[in-house]
Amino acid sequence: MSDWTDCLTFGLSLVRQTKELVLSALEQQKDVKLKSSPADLVTETDQRVEKVLISAIRTRFPQHRFIGEESVAAGERLQLTDSPTWIIDPIDGTVNFVHGFPLVAICVAFAVNKQTEFGIVYSCTDDKMFYAQRGRGAFLNQERLQVSAQQDVGQCLLVTEIGAERDHLALSTMTSNILRLLKLPVHGVRALGSAAVGMCQVATGAADLYFHVGMHCWDVAAAALIVQEAGGVVTDTEGSEFDMMSRRVLAACSSTVANRIAPLIRAFPCQRDDQR
Ligand code: IPD
Repeated sequence: MSDWTDCLTFGLSLVRQTKELVLSALEQQKDVKLKSSPADLVTETDQRVEKVLISAIRTRFPQHRFIGEESVAAGERLQLTDSPTWIIDPIDGTVNFVHGFPLVAICVAFAVNKQTEFGIVYSCTDDKMFYAQRGRGAFLNQERLQVSAQQDVGQCLLVTEIGAERDHLALSTMTSNILRLLKLPVHGVRALGSAAVGMCQVATGAADLYFHVGMHCWDVAAAALIVQEAGGVVTDTEGSEFDMMSRRVLAACSSTVANRIAPLIRAFPCQRDDQR
C-alpha cells in the first residue's frame, strides 16, 4: 500500500517551481476581480498558478481528483470523495498579493479516504517550505517543527484573521472575539492575511494558538496537518473534531490552551464548503 511519498516529493518540487509565477507577478499591476465580497479577491495569477499546478499533477497522476479554490469559484463542484484528491489554494493571501504585502503562500493538501496524507504550505517571499506527512512529522525546509510548550494562556500569542466576510454579524463576531481574548489577557493577537501562514506560526512555536471562522478547506487543509504533526491540536472553534469543510478552525500548541480559549470564541453561520 502506498505511503504517498512519491506524490509528496512531486508536490514539493512542483510548488517550488511555481513560486516564480507568484513572485514575478507580486510587484506588477494586477487585474483584480471581486468574488463573494469586497475583500474576497482573485487575480489572473491565482487562476494561472492553479491551472499550472493542476495540469502538471494531472499529467503525472491522471486518476487523481482536485479541489481548487479558483476552479470552484469558476463553478466546479466541490466534492471530497475517498479518491486521492489534491486540495489547492494557488495563492493564500490574495489580498496581501494584490497590495504587494509580502506574505503569500501556495497551499497543497493531499487527501485519501477523506484523510489528509500530506500538506504543503510554501511561503513564497521568504522561501519557507512548511510541510508534513501523516505520522512522519512536520518540517520547515529541512528542520523538524515543534509547537511551543506554553500552558499559560496569559502568556500566549494568538493569530487570527478578520476574514473576507463583510456583513455586520461576521464583523461584530470576529472583533468581539478579539476583544474578549485581549481582555483575558493574552500577550497579543496578530492577523497576517494568510490563514495557512498564520497556522504554520503555531507549528513553529512562534505563536501558541490560531483561530478563524469563514475560511475555506483549501486555506487550512495543509496547515492543519502541519500543526498536528508538529505536536499541536487542531479542532473546530467549538472544541469538537476538526472538519475541513466546516469553515471553522482552531489550532493550538496544546489541548490545555485550546480548551481555555475555545469557550471564548463565537462563530457566525457559514455555509459549509461541501454544501455550496
Ligand atoms: C484567505 C486568506 C485570509 C483569510 C480568508 C481566506 P485567499 O484566503 O487565508 O487570511 O482571512 O478567510 O479566504 O482568498 O487569500 O486564498
